[in-house]
This record gives sequence, structure tokens and C-alpha cells, in this order.
Amino acid sequence: MPHYLITGASSGIGAALATALLRRGDSVTALARRKDRLDLLAAGKGRLHPASCDVTDAGATAAAIDEATGALGPVDCAILNAGMYEPQDTTKIDPAAYARHMDVNYMGVVNALPRLIDGMLARGTGQIAIVSSVAGWRGLPKAAAYGPTKAALISLAESMTFDLAPRGIDVKVICPGFVKTESTAVNDYDMPGLISADTAAIEIIRGLRSNQFVIQFPKHFTRKMGLLRWLPDRTFFRTVGARTGFPQP
Ligand SMILES: NC(=O)c1ccc[n+]([C@@H]2O[C@H](COP(=O)([O-])OP(=O)(O)OC[C@H]3O[C@@H](n4cnc5c(N)ncnc54)[C@H](OP(=O)(O)O)[C@@H]3O)[C@@H](O)[C@H]2O)c1
Repeated sequence: MPHYLITGASSGIGAALATALLRRGDSVTALARRKDRLDLLAAGKGRLHPASCDVTDAGATAAAIDEATGALGPVDCAILNAGMYEPQDTTKIDPAAYARHMDVNYMGVVNALPRLIDGMLARGTGQIAIVSSVAGWRGLPKAAAYGPTKAALISLAESMTFDLAPRGIDVKVICPGFVKTESTAVNDYDMPGLISADTAAIEIIRGLRSNQFVIQFPKHFTRKMGLLRWLPDRTFFRTVGARTGFPQP
């Protein structure tokens, strides 16, 4: 029975993933700060280890992974999903908000890696899936603090692959479009292609079994977002600006 470790498992995509995996009978370590939310997941069928932990604390994260290994055995697959999103207005930059995003979204992933990689290298097998976003593909309105953390995660996963794939560790990067969760509840605009967290969990579980490096969904939306990467810059700014209420000269 594989052991999945999911960070950010107390709500949204992480909670839906943990629930789906537990229902299948898998073992799950669910890590997040809100322990009461993690305990609710225990209603599932599989074996749950709730790990109350802040991913910005490297020592606490390492200790939580050690405890999880003690409770459920070595981690077969880690889904590093904990994240935060606060919309930004770059006419009024608050550096603390940018540092907070980097600390949770980027360093929160990095902090989990040493223990996971050590364990997987020792066994010569394992899978690490890092939750990025289509917002990491190009700079988007309001995403000035969030987007760079997601772009950094894609770059991190690519670099890791060179070292780890030859040693039996499969690295994947997950790029969801809009998913209905606590994080997106702050958005005051129509979110095209919005899907439920349960649908996102199904897509991720399917993607983990595939040989794709990038797990992206829903495809009808992410394919359009992917095209933005190839647009000439001026066309990109005008197209996205016109559709999002940020008209460009
Ligand atoms: N929703 C979308 O449209 C969308 C699209 C693309 C990518 N994503 C990414 O998907 C991931 C999950 O987001 P979501 O949409 O499911 O939002 P969510 O419901 O707000 O979930 C965020 C999770 O991260 C955890 N978390 C936040 N800060 C943490 C910290 N310092 N330490 C430990 N855990 C922490 C939260 O748990 P606690 O508060 O209990 O700690 C919660 O479980 C994020 O990385 C997000 O960027 C979401």
C-alpha cells in the first residue's frame, strides 16, 4: 500500500487528494497547520497520519517527515502542495507580502525536500510532485507576489529532474488552472474553466501514473494559457489586459 505525503492537506486540492487516496485504501500523511481539519480526514478508509506543521519551518518539516515515516513507512510519493495567494497591486508594493509568498510557496517546498530525497535515494525509488500553477507560465494581473513563486517551482522541478531521474526518483510539476478552493474565494472576477477540488484530485492521481513531466488541467483552459507563452510580448499584454480589466496602451 503506497504511502503518499501531501502538504497543504487541510483544505482545497490537498484535502480532496487525501480523501480520494484514503478512499482507495492508500496510506496518507496529511500535513498542514490546522490539525482539526486534518483529523476530519480520518473518516476515510485508508491509514491517515495527520501531521500538524508549518512548512516555513525547515526543522519542523523534517521532523514531521521523520514521524510520518515512522508511522506509515517510507514515503513513496510526496505531493508538495501547501500554498497561499494574496492578490497584489504593484502600484503599492509591500515587500513583506512578497517574502511571505516566497516563504510558504517556494521555501515550503524546498524545506520538505532534504528528508524526502534522502529516503528516496536510499531506496532508489520514489516520486515527488510539486504543485505550481499556470500562473507560473507568464506574469498575470494581481499575481506579482504569487506568480514568481510558481515560476520558481517549475524551474526547481526541472533542475531536480537532471539529478534525480537517473537515480529512480520521478519528479513532476502540477499546473492547475482555476480550482474552487479557499484560495480562489478571494477572486472577484469570473474564473474561466473553474473546476472543483475533487476533479483536480482525479486529474492529479491520473497524472501521477502518466509519463508526463507536467500535469496540467483542465486541458481546454491550460492549452490556451500555454499559448500565451509563445505570443509576442505586446500581443500578450494587450490580449490578457483586455480580458482581465487591465487595458494596455
Ligand atoms: N485553487 C486554484 O485555482 C489553484 C490553481 C493553481 C495552483 N494552485 C495551488 O494549489 C495548492 C493548493 O491550493 P488550494 O487552492 O487548494 O488552496 P487552499 O484551500 O487555500 O489550500 C492551501 C493549503 O496550504 C496549506 N498551507 C498554507 N500555508 C501553510 C503553511 N505555512 N504550512 C503548512 N501548510 C500551509 C493550508 O493549510 P493550513 O492553513 O491548515 O496550514 C491549506 O491546506 C497551492 O499551492 C496553490 O497555489 C491552486
